[in-house]
Amino acid sequence: MRLEDLIHKKISRRNLLKRSGKAAAFLTAGSVLPNEFFELSLFKERKRSDQNEMLFKPIEPTDSDNFILPQGFDYKIIRKWGDKINESEYFGYNNDFVGYMPIDLLAGGNDTNDGLLVINHEYPSPLFINNYTDEDFKKGKIKTPEEVNAEQKSVGISVIRVKRENGVWNFIEDEKYNRRIDSNTIHIVCGNAKTGLGETVTGTLANCSGGITPWGTYLSGEENFQDYFASKDVWEYRWNDVDKNFNDEQYGWVVEIDPFDRDSVPKKRTSLGRFRHENVAIGISPGGRVVAYMGDDKVNECVYKFISKNTYDPDKRELNMDILDEGDLYVADFENGKWQLLDYDKRPELKSDFASQSDVLINCDKASKLVGGTECNRPEDIEINPVDRSLFVSFTNNSTKDDYYGGIVRIIEKNNDPESLEFDWEVFATGGVESGFSCPDNLTFDSKGNLWVLCDVSTSKINKGRYAPFKNNSMFMIPTSGPDKGKAFRFASGPVDSELCGGNFSPDESTMFISVQHPGEGSLTMENPTSRWPDYGNDIPRPAVIAVTGFKK
Ligand code: FEO
Ligand code: CA
Ligand code: CA
Repeated sequence: MRLEDLIHKKISRRNLLKRSGKAAAFLTAGSVLPNEFFELSLFKERKRSDQNEMLFKPIEPTDSDNFILPQGFDYKIIRKWGDKINESEYFGYNNDFVGYMPIDLLAGGNDTNDGLLVINHEYPSPLFINNYTDEDFKKGKIKTPEEVNAEQKSVGISVIRVKRENGVWNFIEDEKYNRRIDSNTIHIVCGNAKTGLGETVTGTLANCSGGITPWGTYLSGEENFQDYFASKDVWEYRWNDVDKNFNDEQYGWVVEIDPFDRDSVPKKRTSLGRFRHENVAIGISPGGRVVAYMGDDKVNECVYKFISKNTYDPDKRELNMDILDEGDLYVADFENGKWQLLDYDKRPELKSDFASQSDVLINCDKASKLVGGTECNRPEDIEINPVDRSLFVSFTNNSTKDDYYGGIVRIIEKNNDPESLEFDWEVFATGGVESGFSCPDNLTFDSKGNLWVLCDVSTSKINKGRYAPFKNNSMFMIPTSGPDKGKAFRFASGPVDSELCGGNFSPDESTMFISVQHPGEGSLTMENPTSRWPDYGNDIPRPAVIAVTGFKK
């Protein structure tokens, strides 16, 4: 059954429940859970409040080339593309995920004013890095080795130290922590697909969204790796013209890094499967297992979860450092409300198309359909509501199924246990002119359970046709309970052709760190960019990570 048919079935079912007076019980499942079900993560711990006040006066849609916030809020650029981060390395291009990890928490302290930002750099801009235009691409122009090297150095991950002094967040140049991991950094291959790939691989690519683990590591999702290789896809970066070292099976994984140890080698966690990874949301089950929820951001692809074999030990960090290597991978079957196991030895359906579990993990997109995985409308971020533990998934859009505006689906695990193999679900919000938002992508929660939604209408469509009413890509706040449940309030608007990403709070929720990605992406030439944010004048546009302040503590 197609997902939109399922959605219609669900909506009818919800109406039925409403008519029979049972809606409240279904829709508030989990809201009376005991405290121990709340967020267990050391790195996400927050105070809970029962206040349900409006946090800001919503802004109007705009096509202005500025980053715009409601009255009373302000922002500061922490780092932008090209800024130095240490003696020899520079901040990369197209920052996507941004997460904050206090340094002191790892040592058992509680100073949250001094920490590390971990940031993904998703893809380069051949135009702004090398003045390599679409016309050059169409003519088959081959980049020089120096040009390819400049692009290779612009992607991957940044770790930078930041400190709040007198209420202001400042970048700290610190050789102990600040580092870049890029497409030339050696990675160790770990997990159940290891036999198919070898001991090590070169580089990480297409780092989109990510997640912070309760044991203080960072997970980065390798998403549109296909853009880097000559393929049937329309655009690729033509690195293979001058660098033959890249093999596409080495990408499309979740990478785990220890941001607190600059010398640690990044690891590809192959047990979590290979697909176009958006983010990773980690839950700890009542039984102590680590459950990783993930979306495959491609049209007609699936939602996954991984359940660790071993249990999480909050007191012994070293015991958790490789916990994502052993366990089972499942795909969501929305039709039957079941998580379907992706295991070569236990699922006879996989025998004829695959040779091993490694083969299944490398080709998750094909294997998932054979065991009953439901095709979805581009599953992007998944986040766990800290108040009731239900999961929220962005389905950004799917033009092949006439879903142009996307929506947000809520999943409730049976018994509210992340280890459950059964779940229920509902449509939480749908994009469109009426709701005011379109193409939801990154999600983040505050401790009150308000959902913050960062939208991504693609550069080729933004401000045009059916997307014109939404104007520039924006961030919205959607309450998940109370009288405004499900209503979208516009909080921030990005500069021309940008997408806002990340959107993660500091532990006291007084600051939100946001990535402003690809401003001016629709530019055809360096001389006439569509955006000049953030420095204006004659400068070209520059992606940047910013700290937004003004939230009431
Ligand atoms: Fe890189 Fe699915 O966004
Ligand atoms: Ca995204
Ligand atoms: Ca996106």
